[in-house]
Amino acid sequence: NSEPAPFNEYEFPLDSNWEIPRSQLILGATLGEGAFGRVVMAEVNNAIVAVKMVKEGHTDDDIASLVREMEVMKIIGKHINIINLLGCCSQSGPLYVIVEFAPHGNLKDFLNKNRPLAAGTLKDYGEQQHQLPLPKHHLTEKHLISFAFQIARGMEYLASRRCIHRDLAARNVLVSDDYVMKIADFGLARDIQDTDYYRKNTNGRLPIKWMAPESLQDKFYDSQSDVWSYGILLWEIMTFGAQPYPTIMSAEELYSYLMSGQRMEKPPKCSLNIYMLMRQCWHFDAMARPTFVEIVENLDKLLLANE
Ligand code: ADE
Repeated sequence: NSEPAPFNEYEFPLDSNWEIPRSQLILGATLGEGAFGRVVMAEVNNAIVAVKMVKEGHTDDDIASLVREMEVMKIIGKHINIINLLGCCSQSGPLYVIVEFAPHGNLKDFLNKNRPLAAGTLKDYGEQQHQLPLPKHHLTEKHLISFAFQIARGMEYLASRRCIHRDLAARNVLVSDDYVMKIADFGLARDIQDTDYYRKNTNGRLPIKWMAPESLQDKFYDSQSDVWSYGILLWEIMTFGAQPYPTIMSAEELYSYLMSGQRMEKPPKCSLNIYMLMRQCWHFDAMARPTFVEIVENLDKLLLANE
């Protein structure tokens, strides 16, 4: 057995369908960082892309997760409303997974930035002065329903490919040019046995608030638990990215709240039709929730009626 080459810890099988020469990639600014991963902006043949990689201090498991995420993306295939795989650099050097770049960042921050003035505080705006300019036109209810429709289309596709997201939330949807919504992180290996309800995400928030009761109680996930999370995401959209259940602090508290039949109220500027859809997504009984196919049909009708 030969010694591993320096600076080249791992060897990956070459997949010539996806391999991009490392020399064609120009790495740029960091877009986001998680516990073990990093996403960097880059340029390939004059196109802007996003590159996923592991950070220094990673473990073998972190590499395995990134490889798995890439393989899941290859198998799932392309759809306009998901972040698509573009290629990878897997040979002689660190593994880079190259995906579509979404110029407007994540949906939660995008909605916060585009909050109508009356609904946002001046402080919110103060913090955002140095970021993207506000769009020329404010977001109408039709825009918001179109966002919800596109995300439902992406989820309908993922569900048809037997992919369960497990963390569908506005923070995991990216906004591309022309307000195209793209679901991100659907290929992440989530160790659900390891779910720690008290661990906060990178924004210091508890992901429990997006979880269906059966996921909270039994760590059970399927496309119908994704539908529950979709209902919370719908609520985030209609509130321009507010924090769900602001007073609830723990998984136990949330579970008893939901068990007793309580649900979030209708957001101020949300139509009854959209609120009814949210409430259907929040049926305690997973079978009583609509499927993503039904959600797409419902929103399609609402958009047509709104024309
Ligand atoms: N942040 C994380 N992933 C991203 C992507 N693909 N595009 C833009 N910003 C991102």
